[in-house]
Amino acid sequence: MDTVTTAAELRARIAAWRHEGARVGLVPTMGNLHEGHFSLIDLCRRQVDRVIASVFVNPTQFGPNEDFARYPRTLAQDQAGLAAHGCDLVFAPTVEEMYPFGVDQTVRVEVPIVSAPLEGERRPGHFAGVATVVTKLFNLVQPDVAVFGRKDYQQLLVIERLVRDLRLPIEIVGAPIVREANGLAMSSRNQYLSAEERDRASLIHSVLLGMQGEVNTGRPIAEVERLAGSILEKAGFVADYAVVRSAQTLLEPAVGQRDGLISLIAARLGKTRLIDNMPIDPNAPIRRLFEANHVPPTNLLTNL
Ligand code: PAJ
Repeated sequence: MDTVTTAAELRARIAAWRHEGARVGLVPTMGNLHEGHFSLIDLCRRQVDRVIASVFVNPTQFGPNEDFARYPRTLAQDQAGLAAHGCDLVFAPTVEEMYPFGVDQTVRVEVPIVSAPLEGERRPGHFAGVATVVTKLFNLVQPDVAVFGRKDYQQLLVIERLVRDLRLPIEIVGAPIVREANGLAMSSRNQYLSAEERDRASLIHSVLLGMQGEVNTGRPIAEVERLAGSILEKAGFVADYAVVRSAQTLLEPAVGQRDGLISLIAARLGKTRLIDNMPIDPNAPIRRLFEANHVPPTNLLTNL
C-alpha cells in the first residue's frame, strides 16, 4: 500500500487502475483512525476492486474556536491500520495541495436545507467546509463508490444531497456506527476524554436507547426530548440537543408521525463535544428513560 500526497500522483495511479477496468472506492477521513473508520474500509473493500482512503485534517470545516490545531495527527499509525485492512492507496495531501488559492479564497460548496439545523446551527460553516473538501476529493478520485459513517448522520445526508444535486455518478454508502463495549460511539475525539469521562460518556447511547423506547410506547416527542436533555444535564453534560427528527429531512416530526424517525444527540462533556444518533426502530425492545427528577448513576446502561 502506497501513500501519495499530490493530486497529480493520485490521478496517475487511478488512471492506471481505470485502464485495467477496476472499480474504485473512496473512504474520506481526517486520520487518527479507529475501528469505526476501518469498518468503512472493510465495507468499501467488498464493493470495489481498489480502495483509496484519504487522510486530511480539513481546516475549512473547523470553527475558529474548535480543535483544528490540536486534532490528533497519526499518519504512520493510520497507514499501518489501513494496510492491514486491505486499503490499496492512501491520499494524504497538504493543505496547500487541497487549497491552492488558500483556504480563504477557495471555491466553496454549500448544501442548503439539510445543512441548516442541529450541527449546522451549532457549527456555522462546518458543512460548507465538509461539502467543499468532499467535492474536491470526489473530483480528484471520481470514485464509483464512497463510504461514510452513519455516526455523522447529518453529514451523510449532506453528502447524499450534494451528489444528487451535482449529478455526480457516485454511489454513497452509509456504514453502521461502531461502538465501544460500553456503547460509546467510537470517535477520534474520544481520546480527549479522561477514563472517568469515557465511562460516563456511554450515557449518550443509553439515552438514545431510552428515547427509542419512549417514542415507541407513544410518549409525546416533546416530553421525550425534555427528559433526555435533563438526564444528560444531571449527569454533567452540556446538551446542545437531544431530539427526535424525521430521518430523511431532519425536520421536526409531523403530528402523530411515528415512522422514519431518528434520535440525535450532541453533548459536551468537559471540553469534548460528542455526537451520536439512533434510528427509532419500532421493532426494538422497549427500554425506558428515567423519570426527569432522577439522578442517573454512571452505570445507567445496565439499568435501562
Ligand atoms: P472523520 O471524523 O475522520 O470520519 C471519517 C468517516 O468515518 C466519516 O464518514 C465518519 O462518519 C466515519 N466514522 C467515524 N466514527 C465512526 C464510527 N464510530 N462508526 C462508523 N463510522 C464512523 O467525517 C470526517 O472525518 C470528515 O468530515 C470528512 C468526511 C473526512 C471530510 O473532511
